Amino acid sequence: MPESKSSSALVAIIMGSKSDWETMRRSAEMLDELGVPNESHILSAHRTPEATAEFARKAADRGLRVIIAGAGGAAHLAGVIAAHTWLPILGVPIQSQALHGLDSLLSIAQMPGGIPVGTLAIGSAGAKNAALLAASIIGISDEKVRENLQAFRKKQTDAVLAQRVP
Ligand code: RP5
Repeated sequence: MPESKSSSALVAIIMGSKSDWETMRRSAEMLDELGVPNESHILSAHRTPEATAEFARKAADRGLRVIIAGAGGAAHLAGVIAAHTWLPILGVPIQSQALHGLDSLLSIAQMPGGIPVGTLAIGSAGAKNAALLAASIIGISDEKVRENLQAFRKKQTDAVLAQRVP
């Protein structure tokens, strides 16, 4: 997986383990399609706590505008990152083996009042939607990203309307 694809990334995709990449690559692919510069890193709330906090503390000054965090199981990654930055954090629950991602979902969604994490669906749909939501946030002030997002939505709508019942 790419450690970093852009020196001027607007979105960082963080995941707790290399095993999360098969899910989180959907975020990277969607951001690429929308023309949003992005970078990806493996950082864990539990296994690399200091490096995770340092990354989050420096993120805004580096020019990042949204952080997508995917983790599974006792998934504290998004919440820990949110604790160290004012940037919007989008959490993606990875589909775990033991509890099929319900553990990840509740760990990410049930933040205490005061430190929000915008939580997406479990698995690939959540990873894809995290990228689309990040593009919406960036598109508020970035006309090119907004146009790309609107074009994606139109293409999707046209494709569905062109479908016929078999
Ligand atoms: C979490 O533990 C990761 O986000 C991953 O989803 C889960 C399992 O990690 P591995 O044991 O596959 O490295 O921290």
